[in-house]
Amino acid sequence: MNEETVNIHASTPEPFVSAQMITKSFQIGPTRIDVLKGVSLSAKRGEWLALTGASGSGKTTLLDIIGTISRPNTGRLLIDGTDLSALSQRKTVAFRRKKIGFVFQAYHILPELNILENVMLPGLLDGKSARLCRERARELLDQVGLSHRILHRPNELSGGEQQRAAIARALLNAPELLLADEPTGNLDSVTGKGILDIFRTIHESGRTTILMVTHDRTVAALADRSIELRDGLIFH
Ligand SMILES: Nc1ncnc2c1ncn2[C@@H]1O[C@H](COP(=O)(O)OP(=O)(O)OP(=O)(O)O)[C@@H](O)[C@H]1O
Ligand SMILES: [Mg+2]
Repeated sequence: MNEETVNIHASTPEPFVSAQMITKSFQIGPTRIDVLKGVSLSAKRGEWLALTGASGSGKTTLLDIIGTISRPNTGRLLIDGTDLSALSQRKTVAFRRKKIGFVFQAYHILPELNILENVMLPGLLDGKSARLCRERARELLDQVGLSHRILHRPNELSGGEQQRAAIARALLNAPELLLADEPTGNLDSVTGKGILDIFRTIHESGRTTILMVTHDRTVAALADRSIELRDGLIFH
């Protein structure tokens, strides 16, 4: 590769995430709900995007698609140059485990595991050693202020504590893409600030692209860019 080619690449980097004309509809009985009507967005590596929009506008639906948990009806999704539309289910799961951390709106902490085991899980599924996963999980639980709860079951934790455990779990594999669905939604302002500090540190590392759903304008203001979902479309 000659110098000129290198410069061309440096000035026009490929987006890390590129969603192109994504549509998604749900059929409930005789009624079809068109939630996403041709959503396109892209994010550079290391960019922090805030996603806003009214309740029911499709934010979680879009995050699930970008997180490769559900598939769009039509449209294309590329992450780090990989076309997810063309990938088998098995390869998609492996890709997700390697690249993506997900903080779900409803946490999805597994009730039969304690908090430490829950946080270790993405690493174990990715084939990392139990020792490494345990060390990293302890570190992350300490960062989110849950060191004193690691052997508790999720049902013994408050909503905010479960949310913080979900954040620690999402970070275990040091994901290149971090998707967070209202990660401070259930937290008091002090705890919420602590969590935002963690996101800020991750952002400063420059290697993680963050897409965060939030209803809070002050949280959205921390991001590099805000986008809004309205009437099934994205507004910049
Ligand atoms: N699995 C599903 N089956 C049928 N309808 C669904 C399904 N998932 C979402 N919807 C519908 O799609 C619309 C968008 O839902 P979604 O959860 O994406 O909204 P949201 O923007 O995340 O809202 P909130 O801010 O309340 O979390 C809603 O009208 C919802 O009822
Ligand atoms: Mg939602």
